[in-house]
Amino acid sequence: MKITSANFVISNSEVSKCPTNKLPEYAFIGRSNVGKSSLINMLTNRKNLAKTSGRPGKTQLINHFIINNNWYLVDLPGYGYARVSKSAKKVFQKFITEYFEQRAQLVSAFVLIDIRHEPQKVDMEFMQWMGEHQIPFSIVFTKADKLKPKAIERNVADYKAKMLEDTWEEMPNYFITSSSSGIGKDELLSYIGEINME
Ligand code: GTP
Ligand code: MG
Repeated sequence: MKITSANFVISNSEVSKCPTNKLPEYAFIGRSNVGKSSLINMLTNRKNLAKTSGRPGKTQLINHFIINNNWYLVDLPGYGYARVSKSAKKVFQKFITEYFEQRAQLVSAFVLIDIRHEPQKVDMEFMQWMGEHQIPFSIVFTKADKLKPKAIERNVADYKAKMLEDTWEEMPNYFITSSSSGIGKDELLSYIGEINME
């Protein structure tokens, strides 16, 4: 999959106001600061298409970007940010769950996980919720530039073990990426290309 154009379309807090055409879309979700917006910039070869920040909580809305004029990448706010109240954290943000429940044109979500961290409860709960709602997703491990290959291998193995222990029959499809070094870019784009054709 080659990206020849990438343009911002619209930001929304209401799912009903998202684009109503039926173009396929792919959404990036995960804890605040995990690197969702950076990954969109990396995939599209653009520095500031999606707004990024060292501080968690930068993306607050549902952001649609149109790619090659025929499909969308969707940048979402993070979940699990400490400033969000406990109850809001538990149900995630209402419009995030609504987005996943309502967007029929969503082909697949990508749940981003920081490769450096041990499996976190909030991510496990979120993926559990996605599973229960039969929303297709892959895992994208981010910030792989921060670890040596051996440590990456070990952390992915730990993650697999945790997921199998945690009700999953198999590890979901996953990618190892770095927005700073470009690791995983070709794999992720080929995958999107493949499922876009189905
Ligand atoms: P929210 O919008 O707040 O939910 O965050 P986000 O998930 O969109 O994260 P964002 O892309 O804004 O990145 C957060 C921070 O992590 C920024 O300081 C990025 O530069 C940094 N970052 C993102 N991806 C990578 C990566 O692959 N490697 C490294 N080293 N830093 C990264
Ligand atoms: Mg963001």
